[in-house]
Amino acid sequence: MTQSPPASSPLSLPGGGSLRGTVRVPGDKSISHRALLFGAIAEGTTRIEGLLPAEDPLSTAACLRAMGVTVSEIRAGEPVTVQGVGLDGLQEPADVLDCGNSGTTMRLMLGLLAGRVGRHFVLSGDASLRGRPMRRVGGPLAHMGAAIQGRKGGNFAPLAVLGGALKGTTIRTPVASAQVKSAILLAALTAEGPTTVIEPAQSRDHSERMLRAFGADLVVGGPGLTEVRLTPGHRLQGQAVVVPGDISSAAFWLVAAAITPGARITVDNVGLNPSRTGILEVLEQMGARLEVLNRRDVAGEPVGDLRVSHGPLQPFEIGGELIPRLVDEIPVLAVAACCAEGVSRIGDAAELRVKETDRLMVMARQLGAMGARIEEFEDGMTITGVTALRGAVVDSETDHRVAMSLAVAAGIAQGSTVLHRPEAAAVSYPDFWDDLARLGA
Ligand code: S3P
Repeated sequence: MTQSPPASSPLSLPGGGSLRGTVRVPGDKSISHRALLFGAIAEGTTRIEGLLPAEDPLSTAACLRAMGVTVSEIRAGEPVTVQGVGLDGLQEPADVLDCGNSGTTMRLMLGLLAGRVGRHFVLSGDASLRGRPMRRVGGPLAHMGAAIQGRKGGNFAPLAVLGGALKGTTIRTPVASAQVKSAILLAALTAEGPTTVIEPAQSRDHSERMLRAFGADLVVGGPGLTEVRLTPGHRLQGQAVVVPGDISSAAFWLVAAAITPGARITVDNVGLNPSRTGILEVLEQMGARLEVLNRRDVAGEPVGDLRVSHGPLQPFEIGGELIPRLVDEIPVLAVAACCAEGVSRIGDAAELRVKETDRLMVMARQLGAMGARIEEFEDGMTITGVTALRGAVVDSETDHRVAMSLAVAAGIAQGSTVLHRPEAAAVSYPDFWDDLARLGA
């Protein structure tokens, strides 16, 4: 099964420098996965500009190729084309579908494959992915008639899917998760009758926007836009997709600029979908010097350029419906909190425990090694600042967002930091280390 990429040597990160300049972060990871998946089940060609050329979308593309979809080679800066096979055209793969480290690949793929009648699929991934909960997707899909089996009662990969006829239904999900919602919507495309998904809070809505653009009959409503209804019977048509820069990758530079003395960074072409911009609201709450420039709409998604410069920061309190809108940014917000005068509180964030790592525990451990004052709770943490971080020996523990968050922390630490397993960053941001060197030069 999946081999971990060869471990690179630990990285030495000097503290005490500054960061200045303009950076363009790679394409949005969530939108990249969806463009590949929806392109695969559409009719005709989908042309994707700005697709994220990183390990996670490469996993999605490899799974699709294994089922007979032609996806052109994925190279940075070049458009990618997907020759769609139609809603029921995916072939039974001859081997296990390897989802690598990517939860989005595995969960959306489950929804896509559950209704492929008579075909058998096995999905697996790396050690982290094999430890992440999948019943949150398998459970709702079983309500629609899906047959999915796996370890621990179907909760853990490897998972076996025997495609069968599905029935539309109404599903209330216990967690606000775009992966769960999207899996159900993908299954709903070929179910008998409409399907409604009701979430406790709105999660990112890239699937809804893109499915509608591809021709699906989909209506969003309910309090806080938490209800999505999909009526099957419409074929999807290949589209031209333009992927904006990933705000979750931009977040590292936004926080780095806010906390590093003398820093000023502009991040160009960042996706500003309101279901993703919680990080900007928190930076505003902290009093960060943040400007949004050139707001525009690109292929159905709002986009802008973001400029942040260093300044004094207030602590923040986050929880409730804000959490799904910044769920991937919490590790780097923990770093920002070390530089705010007072106690910052993160609550309602138990979801962080089932990401690529248990991010509450891992950030408390790794940032704690640099002197951060963190108290960890079941569903969150408090961080007391201002704390002068000190260089230390730390470890990404294989988590891409932990690797990059620790790099931001290392930049303001006294003395240098040695980061083990920095290669994890390639899951979502392969050029992160080059961009860091350039902005610091
Ligand atoms: C994603 C949704 C989020 C996020 C992940 C990508 C997506 O996960 O953490 O990085 O593309 O749908 P959940 O849906 O499980 O919250």
